[in-house]
Amino acid sequence: MISLLLNPAQIVTVDTNGKNFKSGIEMQDISVLQNHSIIFENDLIKDLIPDSSVKREKFDFVLEVKDKIILPGLIDCHTHTAFAGSRAGEFRLRLQGLSYEEISKSGGGINTTVSAVRNYSFEELLKIIKPRIDNFISQGVTTLEIKSGYGLDFENELKLLRVINHLNEIYPIDIIPTFLGAHTFPLKYKENHQGYLDILTKEMLPFIAENKLSKFCDGFCEASAFSAQEIDIIFAEAEKLGLKTKLHTNQFSSIGGISTALKHKCISIDHLEVINDSEIKLISNTDTAAVLLPGVSFFLDYQFAPARKLIDSDIIVGLATDYNPGTSNISSVSFIMSLAAIKMKMTIEETISAFTINSAKALSINHSSGSLEIGKKADFAVFNTNDYSEIIYNIGTNLNSMTIKNGKVIYKSPGIKSEV
Ligand code: NIG
Ligand code: FE
Repeated sequence: MISLLLNPAQIVTVDTNGKNFKSGIEMQDISVLQNHSIIFENDLIKDLIPDSSVKREKFDFVLEVKDKIILPGLIDCHTHTAFAGSRAGEFRLRLQGLSYEEISKSGGGINTTVSAVRNYSFEELLKIIKPRIDNFISQGVTTLEIKSGYGLDFENELKLLRVINHLNEIYPIDIIPTFLGAHTFPLKYKENHQGYLDILTKEMLPFIAENKLSKFCDGFCEASAFSAQEIDIIFAEAEKLGLKTKLHTNQFSSIGGISTALKHKCISIDHLEVINDSEIKLISNTDTAAVLLPGVSFFLDYQFAPARKLIDSDIIVGLATDYNPGTSNISSVSFIMSLAAIKMKMTIEETISAFTINSAKALSINHSSGSLEIGKKADFAVFNTNDYSEIIYNIGTNLNSMTIKNGKVIYKSPGIKSEV
């Protein structure tokens, strides 16, 4: 089937000239086309042509998108959407002055959510996660990464990964599972790190690899979680089994996570709120994406990652919501984009590159997703505005009016007028 997206006000292609990512100054160039339409055949982009050469009758399906703008489907490359329970109690404690790390040390934090997840069955988890996915789709998200990490034992980590894989089967968007067994030490193993490392490397990872439950192994390198040496051991095992690695690091302290991540050629290093100039230099000129999570800094009332320095050092910078109950209970993509612009001084164009092609790079799907180039997936977010700046200027407002995944309309906002 040959389809046409006809006559939008702007097409933000985020074109990369086939390079499939943008580092540093390239992030500023998002290649906006006017007076053009997009042709797609089944699930792939076939061409972008001037409106003047469009012959409507040649298409099986025509979507009129006058006065709207089209972006590549948004990619949220770092979320913990598969959680249960609430951390509102801890939120109250933080409002009274306790820090996230103090709460973690006293047995709260991630382990509070672990207890909740362990009490939820597969079906109960599905039921609470589904509306969260619908919410992302309504915002133009066509690829959503979801981490495990709230099970922290064999049975419950696998339960979460099965839930995430099942969601990928039943939803039209790509839902990408990431194994995060190394999120923190479960309470039972707080004093016996080797015991948990053995379970992780000898039981969980081999099973996950064999059953193809995740292509990625993530970890949290932090004083309150895993040391750089412990991450090194886990990643060495993950690599042997053919998994790619990602790392949460430099959120509160710099304890060697960046060099360990680079040693293992992580596809992304995420957070980086606490990072010095020599660490920035290490990332520069590597193929590793730096994924920034400004929702965390806002939610914890904490310092933001130095996005400007990272971009000015020619690094591939991505952005994500990090949607989770403890450090970023924020599921608004538009709000995160606005935070990136206002608090991290990223330009509107850099912010868009970060949430599309560079997020795709952080998931190794950048050859098929993240920009509107011929041969890539027909994944589009159609915004109800005629200027892409409005997406970031209208803070926390969802201006997405239509989500198209693999060439199919999967979401339309109520009241949207579109001619077929
Ligand atoms: O990305 N940093 C570690 N993991 C999450 C927090 C998860 C939680 O507190 O539940 C994060 O910020
Ligand atoms: Fe996270």
